[in-house]
This record gives sequence, structure tokens and C-alpha cells, in this order.
Amino acid sequence: MQVMLLGTAAGGGFPQWNCWCPSCRVARTDPAAAVPRSQSSAAVSADGRRWFLLNASPDVRHQIERIPASTPPSTTMRQVPIEGVVLTDAELDHTLGVALLREGRCLHLYATDGVTETLARDSGVLTVTRAFAEVEVTPLAIGATTALLDRRGAHAGLQVEAFTVAAGPPRFASAEREGHTVGLTITAVDSGRSVAFVPGCGELDDALLARFDRADLLLFDGTFWTDDELIRLRIAPRTARQMDHLPISGPGGSLEQLASLRCRHKVYTHINNTNPMLRERGPERAAVERAGLAVGADGMTFTL
Ligand code: MLT
Ligand code: MN
Ligand code: ZN
Repeated sequence: MQVMLLGTAAGGGFPQWNCWCPSCRVARTDPAAAVPRSQSSAAVSADGRRWFLLNASPDVRHQIERIPASTPPSTTMRQVPIEGVVLTDAELDHTLGVALLREGRCLHLYATDGVTETLARDSGVLTVTRAFAEVEVTPLAIGATTALLDRRGAHAGLQVEAFTVAAGPPRFASAEREGHTVGLTITAVDSGRSVAFVPGCGELDDALLARFDRADLLLFDGTFWTDDELIRLRIAPRTARQMDHLPISGPGGSLEQLASLRCRHKVYTHINNTNPMLRERGPERAAVERAGLAVGADGMTFTL
């Protein structure tokens, strides 16, 4: 099973277009010291041939170029390099890419009913995309496993399980729908190897930690280093926890809680541009690595 990090920044990317926080300044003046990142998304495949996107970011057009695609015969004019898109929520940074894939004519999404409803009624992403393409949605029920199918309807060797994480619904959601924010475990049916994909999570509990312990790769919410990160920078008045992102550092932070898990690869993704661990030679980066975790970067690939 292969997993590729297509994008590892939170909404807005890194550097963020309108931001001059300390990390964004370094990314602009010395990109080797703080490597730019596109908005979070990953791709997964059991056979290296049939790939699924985990979320579809606004940067999907460039991100998809990383997916290895065979050259089609000269008589083939269009070839879509992905089999489907699995969604964790309806947030804009995770779903605007769906509309940007509309030229694909036929798209297969996997999402909970709560996410699908928000995409249809509130953001309009589903409605807009359906004006251009046929969109098939396979519902994900919490705690059930669903086979991922290729474009011909055959089992692609992967199955997905959605699980609830602590979070509020997107700001624009007109209702708090069940399953509005989930994490995903994708398992290769043959090998039993798995990746847990959790780009947004406000809290960790024993059940989540036990689940991550069993995974071979954990891609976890690395949005903020400290709870008051945006307040101290005078960027926004809300804490990380109020924004449903568990901070990394400090007592009860994710670094302390994830450090002891036996999961082989523990990697932060969905990293906000303000997060000081984005600086390659900073003390925060060193602390993450000392604890046995890694800071995700675009293009990182894992063979499980
Ligand atoms: C988040 O990660 O909290 C959301 O993506 C917020 C946003 O879209 O601005
Ligand atoms: Mn986000
Ligand atoms: Zn910034």
C-alpha cells in the first residue's frame, strides 16, 4: 500500500497569500529554511496504479500531477488519474477541489451523509459540480467498512472506515449534521496495513489513541503549535481548541499523547502557516522529531 502526501498545509497554504507572520516571512525569503506547502490532501493506492484522493484541496490541479499515470494510447483523449475521492468533512480547504475536478465528467465520492448534505445545501460544491459532471456518492456510515471501487466498479484492494472526531461543523453549515467531521482508516485488504488520516481533531481520547496505535501510518492534525497561537500573533481572537484543533505542544497536547504510540510513522499534516515547527532548524521542529514524530511535507511517500 502506498500513501503520498500531496499537500500538508492547512487552509490558505504556506506561505498564506496575505500573511506576514514570522513563518510566512521565512518561507518567502528563505524557502529552504521553511519549505512552502500546498493545502492538505493525500493519495492512497493498494497497487500503485489505482489511486484515491483523501480530500480534494483547492490545489488539486497541481497536486494530482504527483500521481503516477501511465500514458494512454494515442486514441485516448481523456484519462482521469484517480478512481475516487474520500472526504473527511465539508470544509472548503478539503472540498473545493471536487468542483475543480469537474472536467473528469464522472466523479466518485465517498462521504458521510452529513458531509454530503452540507456540500449540497450549504457550500454548493456538490450542486455546482453536478452541473458539469456525474457525481456518484457512496455513503460512509460511522464504524462500518466500505470497499473502495475503481472506475470500472471493481474492488481496488482498499477499504475505508470513518470514525468520529471531536470537532464542530463548518462555519457555513446550516445544521450540525451527524458525521460532519470524521477521521478515516484506510486498510489494504491483502496486507492488512493501514493509514489513519485525521487532518482535523479537537481532542484525543483512549479510543482514538488505541485506533492510531494499530495503524501503520498516522497523518494527524498539525494545525497549531500552541493553543493561543493566533491570539498572540494578533491574527484572530480564537484559541486552537475553539477552532477544533488540538494544539501540538504543552500538557495534553498531541505531541505528548502521540509520542508513545507504537504506530510506525506518525506525521503531522494540515499545518497552519503560523506554526513555528514549519521552520526546518527551529526548536519546535527538533522537539517533534525528538518525540519520534515527523512534520509532513508535500511529496512525502510511504510504502506500508
Ligand atoms: C479548519 O481547518 O479549521 C477550517 O478549514 C477553517 C477554514 O476553512 O477556514
Ligand atoms: Mn482546514
Ligand atoms: Zn503566516
